This record gives sequence, C-alpha cells and structure tokens, in this order.
Amino acid sequence: MAEKEEGSSWIDPSLLVGLGLVAAGAIYYLASRRERERISVPIDNQSIELPGGVRISRYCVNEELLAYKYEDSRTLYEAFMRGKRVSNDGHCLGWRETKTSPYQWLTYSEVEERFMNFGSGLSKIGVAAGQETFLGVYSSNCIEWTIIEQSCHAYSRIVVALYDTLGPEAVAHIINQAAIECIVCHSSKVSGLISQVSNCPSLKKLITIGSEVSEDEKKAAADVGLELFTFQEVEEQGKEHRAEPVLPTPNDITTICYTSGTTGLPKGVILTHGNVIANVSGMCKHIEESIVLSPSDCHISFLPLAHMMERCVQAIVFMNGLKLGYMFGDIKNLVNDIQVLKPTIFISVPRLLNRIYDKVLSGVNSNKTKKWLFDTAFKSKLSEVKRGILRRDSIWDYIVFGNIQKLLGGNVRLIITGSAPISERVVYFYQVAFGCYIVEGYGQTETSSGCTMSLPADTTCGHVGPPVPSAKVKVVDVPDLNYFASNGEGEICFKGPSCTSGYFKEEEKTKALIDEDGWVHSGDIGKWLPNGTLKITDRVKHIFKLSQGLYIAPEKVENVCSRSPFIAQMFLYGDSLRSSCVAIVVPDEEVLMQWAGEHDKGGKSFEELCTDEEVKKAIFEDLYNVGKRDGLSSLEIPKAIELTSTAFSVENDLLTPTFKLKRPAARTKYMPDIVEMYSQLPA
Ligand SMILES: *[C@@H]1O[C@H](CO)[C@@H](O)[C@H](O)[C@H]1NC(C)=O
Ligand SMILES: *[C@@H]1O[C@H](CO)[C@@H](O)[C@H](O)[C@H]1NC(C)=O
Ligand SMILES: *[C@@H]1O[C@H](CO)[C@@H](O)[C@H](O)[C@H]1NC(C)=O
Ligand SMILES: *[C@@H]1O[C@H](CO)[C@@H](O)[C@H](O)[C@H]1NC(C)=O
Repeated sequence: MAEKEEGSSWIDPSLLVGLGLVAAGAIYYLASRRERERISVPIDNQSIELPGGVRISRYCVNEELLAYKYEDSRTLYEAFMRGKRVSNDGHCLGWRETKTSPYQWLTYSEVEERFMNFGSGLSKIGVAAGQETFLGVYSSNCIEWTIIEQSCHAYSRIVVALYDTLGPEAVAHIINQAAIECIVCHSSKVSGLISQVSNCPSLKKLITIGSEVSEDEKKAAADVGLELFTFQEVEEQGKEHRAEPVLPTPNDITTICYTSGTTGLPKGVILTHGNVIANVSGMCKHIEESIVLSPSDCHISFLPLAHMMERCVQAIVFMNGLKLGYMFGDIKNLVNDIQVLKPTIFISVPRLLNRIYDKVLSGVNSNKTKKWLFDTAFKSKLSEVKRGILRRDSIWDYIVFGNIQKLLGGNVRLIITGSAPISERVVYFYQVAFGCYIVEGYGQTETSSGCTMSLPADTTCGHVGPPVPSAKVKVVDVPDLNYFASNGEGEICFKGPSCTSGYFKEEEKTKALIDEDGWVHSGDIGKWLPNGTLKITDRVKHIFKLSQGLYIAPEKVENVCSRSPFIAQMFLYGDSLRSSCVAIVVPDEEVLMQWAGEHDKGGKSFEELCTDEEVKKAIFEDLYNVGKRDGLSSLEIPKAIELTSTAFSVENDLLTPTFKLKRPAARTKYMPDIVEMYSQLPA
C-alpha cells in the first residue's frame, strides 16, 4: 500500500488536475470552435444595383419591394391579431406596480378586451370612430399608451402624439392643425392643457391616466368648458356599450407623427397602416436569416412612444406575438427593470449604449487584475468577432463577460441602434462582451421612411448596411458640394411602400420632401461602399463653406474627433468669412478625471478642469492626432477649441428629442466663445 502510494507520488496531484483542465479546455475549444455565420447574402456584395444607380435588398424577390410579410397582417389591427394567434394568446404587455415589484402581465386577449372597451368608450363619450378623428396622446410610455393606440387601430381613428420637448407653442400648433377634440393625457398634463384651451378652440375633452385629478383642476377644466374623464371611466363605458369595430384598410392613416426638426414649427408626417406594415415587414425580413423572432422574445419599452422608432418596434413585437415590458418610472431605474425583465431584444440610441459602455469600462479600469483579465479576454474574442463569429459560450464568457451580460439581464440577443452615429469601439464592445448581434439602422425619424440597416451577420462597423427589402435607395448629385452619384456619393433618396405620402396640410414642404418621381429626399449625404453598404457622411443643410471656398461637413468631422477618448460631445463651427473652423468640446468626465489624477490635478473638479489651459491643450493635441490619424484634412480639424462642462442635452435645448445637435441653438449659445476663439486666430 505504502509503496504504491510512494511509487505514484512523483506525479504531483495538482499537476494532474492542471493537465486535466488544459485537456478539457482543448477539447472544449475544438468542440466549440466556430465559423462565420452563413447567410445567403454575399457579405462583400450586400445589395443589388438596378439601372439608374438604384439599390435594393438582396432579399427582394424578383427585384420587387416588400409591402407586407404576412398576407393576414396588412394593417396594424391585423398584425395584433396575428400576434395573439401565433403566441397562442401568450403574455403581451408587462409592467411593474412599484420599482421593486415583479412584472405583471396581460395576455393578448386581455389587451384586446381592454382596447375594444376603450375604443367603444370613446364612441360613447362622443369621440367618433373613423378617419375623421385625430386623437391626441400626451403621456410617457405606459400600458395605456398601447391600449389607446390599438383601440385607434380597431376603430380607424388617427393617433397624434404630443410630447413635452416640443414646447407649449408647438403643442398648441399641433392641436390646432389636426383640430384635435380629445386628448388622452397623463394627469400631470391637465393644468398645462387647461391653460392652452383659449388658443385651441377645437379641444373639448381630456381623458386622464395616472393619479387622480384634483378638485381645483376639475373646476378649472369645467370653467373653460373642458369635459374630464378618467381612463377607467371610458373603459367601463365601453364595456357596457360595446361598439362594432371599424377596421382600417392598408391605405387608411394610422398616425400623424409630428417631428420637431432643428428649427421652426413641427411638421406632421402622414403614415398609413400600409406604410408602417411595410416598414416593419422590411425589417423582419432583413434580419430573419439570423434572427427569427418568436413569442419567447421580449422587448423593453423605454424610448418615447411619441417617436416612430419605438412605435415601429412595438408593431414588430405584436405582429410576431412577442412580449413587451414597460420601464417603471424613469430612465434611472432602467437597468434594474432590465435585470428583472431580462429582454432578448434591446432597442436603444447610441447615447445610452455609450453610457453603459463607459460604466463597465470604468469598473474594469479601477482594478489592475480585472483590467488585465478583461483586456486579454477582449482581445481574444475581438479577433473572433472580426472574423464574423458572435457567441457567448467561450471560456471568456464564463470567466469575464458573464457578469457584464447580467447587466442587461443576460438574455439579450439583438441590439438595434439608430438615430445617431455610434462609434466603432462601442459596437465591438457589445459584440464581444454580450456576444449578441448589434445592427445599426438608418432611416429618418422625420419621414419614418428609409431605410438601410446593417445585417446582423455583418460584424463590421462604419456603415449602415444595405437597403431593407421595403425600400429602394439611391444617391443623387449635389454639385455645389462636389458630390456626384457617378462616384456613388450624394444626397440619399428613398422610395417604396414604407415611405410617407408627405406632410399633413403642408403642400410646400411636401414638395420639398418628395420629388415628382416619388423619391423622398433625405437631406443626408451618403456614399455606397464597395461591399454594397451605405455610409452616412453628413447632412446637406449642415455643411458650411470656409472663406477659401472649401466645404466642411461638420458631423463627419465631429464623429472622427469624438474617437478621442477625451471627447464626449463636440460642436464644430465655421464662419464663411474665415479660413478655419473652431469647436466647442464637452470632455468625457471620467477620462478627464482619471487623466487629471495622473497629471497632478487630482484635487480639481470637472468644472475647474474645463477652464484649465493645460487641460485644453492636452485635449486639443489628442483631438488633432486623432483627426490626422483618421484622415481629416488640416482645414477640417478645428484650429481652436473651447471646453464646457455642460453636456449638450434635450433639456438644455441643444439636442433634438432624437439626440441630434441643434446647430442654430448651439451657435447662438456659444457665440461669445466662437468670437473669442476667432479673435485669437489669423484671419
Ligand atoms: C455583385 O453582385 C452583382 C450581381 O448582383 C454582380 O453583377 C457584381 O459583379 C458583384 N460585384 C462584386 C464586386 O462581386
Ligand atoms: C481586483 O479584482 C480581483 C479579481 O476580481 C480581486 O480578487 C481583487 O481583490 C481586486 N482588488 C482590489 C484592490 O479591489
Ligand atoms: C421604420 O421607421 C423607423 C422610425 O421612423 C425608421 O427609423 C426606420 O428607418 C424605418 N424602417 C424602414 C424599414 O422603413
Ligand atoms: C464593407 O466595407 C467597409 C469599407 O470598405 C469596411 O469597413 C467593412 O469592413 C466592409 N464590411 C464587410 C462585411 O466586408
């Protein structure tokens, strides 16, 4: 016995364990080694070019655009009914009563019961069914929003969303232009609306969601001749007096979507059921080879329903019988909601994706061991991602990325982003750390038309993919700016069943939007890449000219410069009488604070650092180097910068609700800085 033990003791048991692990690791590696996902679209030739430089999706059958995906879902009402059927009447809408409670669910038929009641109740209180009625909706996202919208589908009423960032003047303009008689609003909006009544003679009824309306408000409403109802009252009325549905056709209008743009009063984009169905059918078809949506998929709704992006995504959800959970309260609680709901699809804007990315990285960077492990893991997985392999079953997912994945609940398999450009490092981060698809769409919230979208299986960045099956896309000459379609570059135009027929009651503006041949002109500049994808370069209306006659595309320059880790946001400005550009920069707080710590400025606050000349110099140098490295000409790179610690935001009126910089507002606000910078520069 003893001998035997001694005889075998030359092998250290821990070595055996170690060898075992290596062997297991090797077998595991071989077993799980992956190849690029195979799809029918050649990844180096993603779109079909028709005569006239028009491009379409390779998923188009016989070169025809897709108007709808399912014969039985040609209106949004039918789409909901399809969802009820394919989910076998599964969970439809979820919400949380408080910020710690679990999600509760309504099934598809429960939602149907409620929207049929609400739609009937509207008729009962005198809001007619049919295309003559424009129903205002003025609330943040909640299950009532869906019930209202679906009730409009079932009774052919037209939804008009109102939202705060428009400002009171714009809200009054919309009520008047659409002659809105009834608004369903959150109770917090009641007093604001009462004060508008004298400017809005059409307005007669308010239906309130949320907390009770106070006695004072009730009286104030009565004094100005407004009838007040609660949401529940209307549902109860409808339950007792159920009206026959008035089902829409594909050509009926579903919504007038007002968009604020960067200047002037908002314009209402007319969208039919057919437009939205084409839009969502196109998107589903586009991703289908990689991702088949099924009732087990779940979406978390937090982007404002007043914009078409979220509404279109909800249409996808219902058409395919998915589950939809609402965020509780505000965005501060979002991460917790996500962890409880565990969504599988995540629709976001770059701003939020950037914030999560920054948060993860600052956690990682705070600990040397963690950072080393993360960097090693990241490198290893990134090389796979670059070869088109996405997964979350690698050894690194167990050791390093698992906890990061839990941040978004652990089940996300598709991230969709749009409305603003997203940087390459952020896209790679999500592909690596979450092992999920991330697709970037390009379309116009303005016209709800488009669009192009990157294919899930294409892991590369720097483009917005090929056209979706519901749209034709081309670029046209912009001779002033030296863009020629013959070089594959110019103003992006769309055409197809998802495109709007124009702006509501705005003939002139509609003519400027849609040309005689039916092409919607986007105002954006794009370029076709050799692999058939589109790259967005800038907005026509933002481009400016310097005194030596050179045109500068500010968004392009800002996007390149923002690759400097120091820069969170930037506003580039050029005076046509000067030969150089200047810029206002919002530094990245975390990066700057860390840099300050390493450069003997640890005691200073972020605000103080933003006024520090040395800091400015360091940031300027980095910006310059990044600009040079990534191909900007020396005239495109600003010659002077000024720092500000105040981020550009929707609240301070420097961003549009879809997070685009409002250039005229930024110019006004920063004019003193601009004048100061130019005074230091040679003419
Ligand atoms: C892309 O595909 C088209 C056919 O759709 C073909 O004519 C063209 O030569 C291809 N281009 C490249 C670069 O392979
Ligand atoms: C850094 O992270 C490692 C691994 O997670 C942990 O063991 C260690 O305690 C951390 N060090 C510090 C200083 O927090
Ligand atoms: C659908 O509409 C959304 C929101 O307006 C837009 O961003 C997207 O580009 C559109 N997609 C298609 C396929 O038309
Ligand atoms: C498509 O072309 C662009 C620009 O040449 C490149 O950055 C990207 O990696 C390409 N994507 C694929 C999948 O080939």
